[in-house]
Amino acid sequence: TVLVVDFGAQYAQLIARRVRECHVYSEIVPSTMPAAEMLAKRPKAIILSGGPSSVYEEGAPIAPDGLFDLGVPTFGICYGHQVMAQALGGTVENSDVAEYGAATVTVTAPGTLFAGLPAEQPVWMSHRDFVSRAPEGFLVTAGTGVTPVAGMEDRERGFYGVQFHPEVLHTEHGMEILRRFLYEGAGCRPAWTMVNIAEESIDAVRARVGAKRAICALSGGVDSAVAAALVQRAIGDQLTCVFVDHGLLRKGEAEQVEKDFVAATGVNLHVVDAQERFLAALEGVTDPEAKRKIIGREFIEVFEEAARAIVGDSAEPVEFLVQGTLYPDVVESGGGTGAANIKSHHNVGGLPEDLRFTLVEPLRSLFKDEVRALGEQLGLPAEIVWRQPFPGPGLAIRIIGAVDRDRLEVLRDADAIAREELTRAGLDRDIWQFPVVLLADVRSVGVQGDGRTYGQPVVLRPVTSEDAMTADWARLPYEVLQKISTRITNEVREINRVVVDITSKPPGTIEWE
Ligand code: XMP
Repeated sequence: TVLVVDFGAQYAQLIARRVRECHVYSEIVPSTMPAAEMLAKRPKAIILSGGPSSVYEEGAPIAPDGLFDLGVPTFGICYGHQVMAQALGGTVENSDVAEYGAATVTVTAPGTLFAGLPAEQPVWMSHRDFVSRAPEGFLVTAGTGVTPVAGMEDRERGFYGVQFHPEVLHTEHGMEILRRFLYEGAGCRPAWTMVNIAEESIDAVRARVGAKRAICALSGGVDSAVAAALVQRAIGDQLTCVFVDHGLLRKGEAEQVEKDFVAATGVNLHVVDAQERFLAALEGVTDPEAKRKIIGREFIEVFEEAARAIVGDSAEPVEFLVQGTLYPDVVESGGGTGAANIKSHHNVGGLPEDLRFTLVEPLRSLFKDEVRALGEQLGLPAEIVWRQPFPGPGLAIRIIGAVDRDRLEVLRDADAIAREELTRAGLDRDIWQFPVVLLADVRSVGVQGDGRTYGQPVVLRPVTSEDAMTADWARLPYEVLQKISTRITNEVREINRVVVDITSKPPGTIEWE
């Protein structure tokens, strides 16, 4: 294990992902964790992340007491570099000149991290404070015009630091530097591979569940599908999956779960057709949060009924509930830093007292890209594994206005065209999400054929993102946009206008509701 000590902001998760891309398992821990507790996790290496603070600020996070006495190779990045320098007797100063964005470092002594790399290299910087003097015993390995100590190391004691961010793609040799720290500096071995992850997870589930039974709610999304497939491998028919068809999925998605997923996994599937029920509950509702609450509530009720039926039918007690919780959710809810709940997201929380299950969360330690790789490893169809994230409340929050059957049909048709053209252009994996939004209460005048029309607009909202926390609007090629626009207005009678949303997040969220 490599521990990534989180000094705040979003840096730690990216570092942890990059470490895993080097095939070494990593875990994020808060900077408030005592050193002894870190040692108990038997880390091969520790990485101190960047963070938004200044080491001089009152209450700025510092390294836990004794961290540098653990005898574990440690790599400080950005703020972590400064924390290390200060703790070991170097000097950190505040500069008038900040260094944000692209910079060039000059390698003055290659040492361990820069061995074999070019003497001048582009890096990504984001700091105002800087290390002006390295602690005693350290070799200064790199610098820039603004930052005299952009790299330092004390190989004997196993301490390494860089001021720039090796984890971001703009640092050209960042991965190589990270790899050199892990393999050369800390003696890690590349053992974290998908084959191992799959085998270990399957064994762990089998050990946990034993001969008992489990149920799982499939949403049509990647996470629940991969979790279910994995548990199915572990315990076979002891697992029953429930698919609540609420009628708010996109075209073809319910069939994909019912046919393709079942064919690929052999899973025991219990389908509940609840379309009428959801439509009735949503009738006339326009407020986004009200829609979410209604859908969340109905979902729980329907799932509960299904679960009771399954529990009642089986001779063995049903003790476990499988959920596709991912590592970022675990970090964010356990981190205690309380990221604001901007929108209420629904999952299978809130089951009644007498229907309590023990959770099985086989993806708890994985990032999304790892979950996809695992899904491929388990033989799931590419359409499921590579599906874009899709909100639990589905198309209901992509219809601005009240939801009804006809509007859902219109949106499903328009959405299917957009998805088809994106796939045809080979851009599926470049785009994080591509919501198509129906402005159901807006009308505009158009002319189609010889007649005047008074139709509805749809909004195309293609975005790029790493984690949905921030996003940018995707610069889709004009030809692709044009094809989508022409096809939607030709093929979906109700729609006479197609517009593109060019707002980043922030300030706009990805979804419109
Ligand atoms: P926003 O719109 O807040 O979305 O930028 C961020 C990510 O979350 C998804 N999303 C949801 N997922 N239930 C979900 O399960 C929800 O109510 C919900 N609202 C937004 C959204 O699709 C994006 O990936």
